[in-house]
Amino acid sequence: MANDASAVSDAISRDLAALADPFTPPADSTLWRKNFLLGAATASYQIEGAVDEDGRLPSIWDTFSATPGKVLAGDTGAVACDHYHRWEADVDMLVSLGLEGYRLSIAWPRVMDAAGVPNRKGLDFYKRLLNRLKEKGITTFVTLYHWDLPQHLEDRGGWLNRDTAYRFADYADLMSRELAGTVDAWATLNEPWCSAYLGYGNGHHAPGLADGRFATQAMHHLLLAHGLAVPVLRANDPASLKGIVANFGRGTANSDSAADQRAAHLFEVQHNAWILDPLLKGAYPQDLFELWPGTEPLVLDGDMQTISAPLDFLGINYYFRTSVASDGAHGIREVPLEGVERTQMGWEVYPDGLRDLLTGFNSTYRNLPPIYITENGMASDDKVIDGHVDDTQRISFLKRHLAAVDQAIKAGVDIRGYFLWSLMDNFEWAFGYERRFGVVHVDYSTQKRTVKRSAELVAKFLKERKAQV
Ligand code: FCB
Repeated sequence: MANDASAVSDAISRDLAALADPFTPPADSTLWRKNFLLGAATASYQIEGAVDEDGRLPSIWDTFSATPGKVLAGDTGAVACDHYHRWEADVDMLVSLGLEGYRLSIAWPRVMDAAGVPNRKGLDFYKRLLNRLKEKGITTFVTLYHWDLPQHLEDRGGWLNRDTAYRFADYADLMSRELAGTVDAWATLNEPWCSAYLGYGNGHHAPGLADGRFATQAMHHLLLAHGLAVPVLRANDPASLKGIVANFGRGTANSDSAADQRAAHLFEVQHNAWILDPLLKGAYPQDLFELWPGTEPLVLDGDMQTISAPLDFLGINYYFRTSVASDGAHGIREVPLEGVERTQMGWEVYPDGLRDLLTGFNSTYRNLPPIYITENGMASDDKVIDGHVDDTQRISFLKRHLAAVDQAIKAGVDIRGYFLWSLMDNFEWAFGYERRFGVVHVDYSTQKRTVKRSAELVAKFLKERKAQV
């Protein structure tokens, strides 16, 4: 493995140059199966803009990003990709790339007021969008909560208040009554780990609170919200799939010492079992409270049963691996590896982590539902040169992660699709607009979209796959 960033990119260029087509999977790959869904993902606050139009109320991300020092360069989602006004062209772009699936999210503060009264104009936006996607034959995955909690709910305690879970079920009820028939799969939450831990545990995300006990209580209410919403979605829209999307982390130790191996195990408890055990086993992992003593959430009778309602799918978001060691006491210390390939985020590129998580979950959880990879991708400092964006590292990244998915399928994991994060560059939360995750470049001064080389190659593969007999 090369030792510095430039040597790493030289190695990637050599790798790519050696391949006739740097993206297309080999002939024996399961990705050639036409029923393996390939799509792209976005989220409301990251692309829509129009934050005070047509009756949309403020969300916690409006408040957080307007607070000095919270988001890089003081960026906010006020305009973002202006998708609220440009959605028709954006759908055309998705279709022209041959993408078969689109994962989007709904902005809760756009569709309901504090008294629970529906906002017709906000609802109509999503109806138009979903109807168009249906007309175009795109499979739609709709996330109800991708972090933009209405500020009025945060003012009453947000996810620390049990009542928010019931308000979420009301919101799920409204959306599934209004949108039934246009949604192929509903995801209740996106990445509850980030909402709970980054939002309430360390304050890196909205609403910016930092207390370990808050994180576990917020997680419990988020999972409860999910569990209350699932039967509501089933009743209102029986034909669609119901599931949840979560981010999972691969943690490995660089030594065989029992203490370091234990640290790696605890890292995965904290990132993975904290969410999967309640959903699939109906109980929190006890190791979690060994790591964070005294943080047990308040759980009422029946909650764990509600939370572990059967799922039709599990959405997995995967980005990187973390190398850890014991901190000498009972905790975990991060030990960044030297000389590994990293992205613009500083995240290690580690496709084996995706394969290992998938096969590991498959053996740990007897009742693991069918899986969709609902996010995978990387940020790079992409520039438009002569009308083109050559995102070499992303092409190689996607190819290697798709190969990891293929390996997991061949090892017996039921994986049904993969969504690139993201369709286009967008507001990357605390990192603002600097970090570009799109397969389409966005020039924020003109809102011009430029298809990157990675998207062209994905499109080429999808076209070939479609033409297969
Ligand atoms: C995930 C989020 C998504 C995006 C990617 C890079 O944690 O779900 O919105 O920001 O990371």
